[in-house]
Amino acid sequence: CGIVGYVGGQSALDVVIAGLKRLEYRGYDSAGVAVLSDGGLAAAKKAGKLVNLEKELVDRPLPSGATGIGHTRWATHGGPTDANAHPHLDNAGRVAVVHNGIIENFAALRAELEERGHDLASETDTEVVAHLLAEEFSSCGDLAEAMRLVCRRLDGAFTLVAVHADEPDVVVGARRNSPLVVGVGEGEFFLASDVAAFIAHTRAAIELGQDQVVKLSREGVEVTDFAGAPADVRAYHVDWDASAAEKGGYDYFMLKEIAEQPKAVADTLLGRIDAEGRLRLDEVRIPDAVLREADKVVIIACGTAFHSGLIAKYAIEHWTRIPCEVELASEFRYRDPILGQRTLVIAISQSGETMDTLMALRHAREQGAKVLAICNTNGSTIPRESDAVLYTHAGPEVAVASTKAFLTQLVACYLVALYLGQVRGTKWGDEIHAVIRELARSADDVERVLETMEPVRALARSLAHKNTVLFLGRHVGYPVALEGALKLKELAYMHAEGFAAGELKHGPIALIEEDLPVVVVVPSPKGRSVLHDKIVSNIQEIRARGARTIVIAEEGDETVVPYADHLIRIPATPTLLQPLVSTVPLQVFACELATARGNEVDQPRNLAKSVTVE
Ligand code: G6P
Repeated sequence: CGIVGYVGGQSALDVVIAGLKRLEYRGYDSAGVAVLSDGGLAAAKKAGKLVNLEKELVDRPLPSGATGIGHTRWATHGGPTDANAHPHLDNAGRVAVVHNGIIENFAALRAELEERGHDLASETDTEVVAHLLAEEFSSCGDLAEAMRLVCRRLDGAFTLVAVHADEPDVVVGARRNSPLVVGVGEGEFFLASDVAAFIAHTRAAIELGQDQVVKLSREGVEVTDFAGAPADVRAYHVDWDASAAEKGGYDYFMLKEIAEQPKAVADTLLGRIDAEGRLRLDEVRIPDAVLREADKVVIIACGTAFHSGLIAKYAIEHWTRIPCEVELASEFRYRDPILGQRTLVIAISQSGETMDTLMALRHAREQGAKVLAICNTNGSTIPRESDAVLYTHAGPEVAVASTKAFLTQLVACYLVALYLGQVRGTKWGDEIHAVIRELARSADDVERVLETMEPVRALARSLAHKNTVLFLGRHVGYPVALEGALKLKELAYMHAEGFAAGELKHGPIALIEEDLPVVVVVPSPKGRSVLHDKIVSNIQEIRARGARTIVIAEEGDETVVPYADHLIRIPATPTLLQPLVSTVPLQVFACELATARGNEVDQPRNLAKSVTVE
């Protein structure tokens, strides 16, 4: 969910709505606002996207005021209805609260409140907080203190922002786990889940830590812990500007972000490989001795980031000979994994706030493992709680389906794998030197793929009526197939599945029928001819059974030509680096298919970009 709060000299409603627009990527099931004016509190909320709320505000305008809060929701407790939308109010309509996360003991709190005569109007866990705040405020008369008292009674993960009509120039926030940042302007202050919400007003920010309560007033910012003791906070300057989060002439953020991939890849490589082909990762603070002694690498991530982890495993094991496991973060800690001081855990996350990944990394550190984060969001929770971080430099990614962040995660994984080899003194033959040279110039290859995407778009449009698309790959092409299928599910709402091509004969081949589109990612013919020949056989097997074959193969690979109904060419690369180029056509394919089917590309149904609940 996305949260905004404002106190200052401008119209709070305008500031809050503009902020919510920038946070809509965090959830878009429903939205709402509350403003304080003339001693009263007025709120509006609406199911569906933010435009529905904006229409409601035109039909039924709120009085103007200089203090306000807003919310854009990704539903957890209670469906996306008007009643369940935030903000939630107490029975007297004096307190309004918005919330991101899950309050695990809400059922008990709700029962307790109902016993005391409160009347709860929604199915959400959030509403109990409004009622509890109203009770505490009536005895202490101070919203920040009321918030501290309430937070001490809540279990789970929550970020809360509240206002009270009796303190008209105050916004109070509380943070446990899900992010909350303060924006510091001249005589005005902002609170938001992400700096994007206030970047148009100020680039001065304060990051709140775990279990802190913040009070914003026209006079300034006060931060305490839940017990009321003053807390240390970190002020910082946001180093990207508002234009980085605009569409810049593209119809969708996703198209812009696909097009930005060569720059994102180049920026992520910048300064990290020197002229002699040595890796320079000074920012990885984990001592080289720890990296040298690591006896196992465990990668944890979710969604698209998980697919980058699957690819990293091939690189790490091949280049360094350290055993590497990859696991979905949501599964990891619940199976009692074997970790120790010699385990290096790599947590991959674009946002740095995915709750499943955060919980998995905390579990890993509790077991004594060292954690290296690969992350795209400066100062977010996952890098803050890790032993070290290697940032990807993709810039802000807004479209829910990840593209440029994925490519930069791959680059970061390759860099980490090569760096591990370097500090461990792995004997590098010509192969690795060639890989480093190729990696250093991979942005150009990505650019070349982007220049040849028109036939892929035409193909996607011609398949808009299909129900199913299958994806096959071997070796690093297998995670690429999984990613291609994920993109299609997320964007086109089609049945799409990725398979290891070798598994075809063990089941999935039964799915093949006349004219079923099957995308096959063909490995490089050089060096790994066994793999290449095997997949060419797989293409023949499915084509003989009627499949329409869409083959992604390197330039110059002529063996596939007779079996490809559609051929998509990618530049020749070392095998392990091929995902950097083979993923790009699959992103374009999914994006175009979604558009042809009339779907919302940047905000697919039911999804959110940052999932801050487990
Ligand atoms: C959500 C997004 C995915 C993303 C995943 C992990 O499910 O919709 O696109 O891959 O979270 O996000 P992270 O920020 O941890 O990379």
